[in-house]
Amino acid sequence: MDAETLRKFEESLKRCSADPDFLDIFYGNFLGSSPKVREKFSGTDFDRQKDALRASFDTMLLAARDEENGPERYLLPLAERHGSRQLGIGAEYYDLWLDSLLKTVRACDPAFSEDVEKAWENVMGVGISYLCSRYNT
Ligand code: HEM
Repeated sequence: MDAETLRKFEESLKRCSADPDFLDIFYGNFLGSSPKVREKFSGTDFDRQKDALRASFDTMLLAARDEENGPERYLLPLAERHGSRQLGIGAEYYDLWLDSLLKTVRACDPAFSEDVEKAWENVMGVGISYLCSRYNT
């Protein structure tokens, strides 16, 4: 992925992370997007979950930096966890996830723009495509 897109993503992530409500707003949006999503998280400790998601934005960035080998190198455990044998997260959930995330970035990033939105879509898209492609394995 080009350096400009990666830079835009990283800078926006920093601005979003400066908002203490960023991850609460995201999970509010995501859980509000469908009863099917709420069901998946019915037993979840959200303090732990927010820490996990915060860390995985960096992992998604590593994967996007090296589109050829990065996803396999960094995202395999996450793919196994979300796949059909464990959490059973199919592609339709990732659409809701990404929509909820972009809505959250729009609300939390004071320098939000169309380019910023594209940078999030592109960076997250690499990881999402990989996770979806590993669903059945
Ligand atoms: C690319 C997008 C996503 C990322 C980066 C991500 C990240 C994570 C991480 C880091 C964990 C913790 C893993 C562990 O404890 O081993 C997790 C758990 C989980 N994720 Fe995702 N996730 C994504 C998409 C989704 C989607 C679309 C759903 C759909 C509902 C989902 C549902 C869950 C559930 C139910 C758990 C387990 C929660 C629990 O322990 O109770 N995730 N996710």
